Amino acid sequence: MGRGEAGRQALWPRKRGAGTVEPEDWNRRYAGDELVWTAEPNRFLVAEADGLTPGRALDLAAGEGRNAVWLAERGWEVDAVDFADAGLQKGRRLAGRRGVEVHWIRADLERYAPERRAYDLVIIFYLHLPWARLRPVLRRASSAVAAGGTFLLVGHDRTNLEQGHGGPKNAQVLYGADDVAGELGGLQVVEAAIRRRAVETDSGQATALDCLVRARRGEATGRRAI
Ligand SMILES: C[S@@+](CC[C@H](N)C(=O)[O-])C[C@H]1O[C@@H](n2cnc3c(N)ncnc32)[C@H](O)[C@@H]1O
Repeated sequence: MGRGEAGRQALWPRKRGAGTVEPEDWNRRYAGDELVWTAEPNRFLVAEADGLTPGRALDLAAGEGRNAVWLAERGWEVDAVDFADAGLQKGRRLAGRRGVEVHWIRADLERYAPERRAYDLVIIFYLHLPWARLRPVLRRASSAVAAGGTFLLVGHDRTNLEQGHGGPKNAQVLYGADDVAGELGGLQVVEAAIRRRAVETDSGQATALDCLVRARRGEATGRRAI
């Protein structure tokens, strides 16, 4: 992902240690009025959210709020979480310009525990953490999905390192769809795949390889065991 989803490596903040990315790195990245990413929603969100009935949505690692604002415009009641204040402020301004409300929450996802079984849609887009630190985030995110709700994760796939354009160059923070699917206890995995994404670069068109995982929690039957 990158400006206009061009996926320029220079847009990724510097790392400390094994793939660690600090809030101050992101705040620096988000400083200034210009959007680092774009005001437009991610194309996979647009495609995958089509047909879902709006309810409560949770956007984890919301960044500058493009996806949260787009969902709010479609009638979703959105909680948007990120640890970078500067990104959330841009999200607030974007929501103001678009005339929608989003509940912005500044929190570190490595500690944040969303309300369990409360959200009809939980999304994580391009959150890149080392796997050992990401797993608990995924487990808490999946437990936040309500009965009948959807979980949707998109991030740079590990195959992107050798075969795709842009994204982090640290293999430890890249995704494998099967690994993600394996952490979504209680959800039914609908799709766990690599998706190709055409991007415009300074030197022409390129392809980025994203990991996409979509899962859902079955409807509550209301039946009691006897
Ligand atoms: C590449 S951006 C993606 C933003 C947004 N999802 C989008 O697609 O436009 C990654 C975001 O993850 C956030 N982030 C990274 N680690 C985080 C953590 N531990 N807790 C909360 N947010 C985090 C960063 O602040 C940044 O906004």
